[in-house]
Amino acid sequence: MRALVTGGAGFIGSHLVDQLVGHGHRVCVVDDFSRGSPDNLIASLDTGRVALHRVDVCSPELVALTHHHRPEVVFHLAAQIDVRASVDDPLTDARANVLGAVNVAEAVRLSGARKVVYATSGGSIYGHADVVPTDESAPARPFSPYAASKLAGEIYFNSYSRLHGLDCTHLAMSNVYGPRQLSRGEAGVVSVFATAMLDRARTVIYGDGCNTRDYVHVDDVVAAFLAAAGEPGSGQRYNVSTGVPTSDRELHTIVAAAAGAPDTPTFMPARKGDVRRSVLDRTRIGTELGWKPQIDLVTGVGDLVRHLRSRRSAPVA
Ligand SMILES: NC(=O)c1ccc[n+]([C@@H]2O[C@H](COP(=O)([O-])OP(=O)(O)OC[C@H]3O[C@@H](n4cnc5c(N)ncnc54)[C@H](O)[C@@H]3O)[C@@H](O)[C@H]2O)c1
Repeated sequence: MRALVTGGAGFIGSHLVDQLVGHGHRVCVVDDFSRGSPDNLIASLDTGRVALHRVDVCSPELVALTHHHRPEVVFHLAAQIDVRASVDDPLTDARANVLGAVNVAEAVRLSGARKVVYATSGGSIYGHADVVPTDESAPARPFSPYAASKLAGEIYFNSYSRLHGLDCTHLAMSNVYGPRQLSRGEAGVVSVFATAMLDRARTVIYGDGCNTRDYVHVDDVVAAFLAAAGEPGSGQRYNVSTGVPTSDRELHTIVAAAAGAPDTPTFMPARKGDVRRSVLDRTRIGTELGWKPQIDLVTGVGDLVRHLRSRRSAPVA
């Protein structure tokens, strides 16, 4: 298969590229390196099956490149992912996430690609959900420009599905964690805690520690992308999650145990807009795509801490 991965130099995208290459596929990666880095793709680039392009997903170059590469499947992961940055600068967020999605939809239509798999945000689009765990039938109630722009991407792809017969599937991920995640921003709280603890630095919990999140390992997320790519889709959204709630305080204890660090967070006032409970029901993706998470949080955090430690002890090239 020929695939195109936008945001393929980022955290989730680079793991997806590694897996695609591992399955023998050829991959065109598009990334502007605003957060991602070619360093995340060193192993895949060595295979010679990856073409890496520094291109903005909003640019006409994306359309030309997609036309030239003729991918069968386009995985759209490139995005502005920082919720707080979206509140401070909603126009920049909308440019990358809304215009980016529209440009990807156009690129797919013009290139004749078979399918789009879109990375949407299960952790934000449902807002303060009435029912937790939240399933896909819950109303989308974005509380941030980021959540609104990710939802707009789904709506645009669905309009292309109705208008042009575009085959698309949306994967609404909860809080993804694993190696290569930058240790900044809420989405990276596992990395934030692990990095701070290995540095013997202070760790902060905002609020009373009882906010819950649903942490899913990046390897499980990549398996969901591959499952979605193999099935036809007409705009279905699938939650990609564990369905297991973990409070901020519990997460701190799990990471501290893995890092051998004191379990003594500093508590700071809650941040405005933080969702109290975010846990997603994963029944639909299990029933329809046969996906379920394989890596529990204690195991995944242990692997992440070992990975971070090994990078610290590696000699500098
Ligand atoms: N990490 C999570 O917990 C999570 C949860 C739900 C959804 N998502 C979604 O998954 C996708 C990947 O997220 P991630 O955590 O890997 O983040 P990331 O920041 O590591 O990856 C995004 C990549 O997109 C690139 N990018 C940003 N703007 C671009 C542009 N205009 N043109 C080209 N490239 C651009 C960045 O350089 C980066 O490499 C995003 O769409 C995000 O909204 C992530």
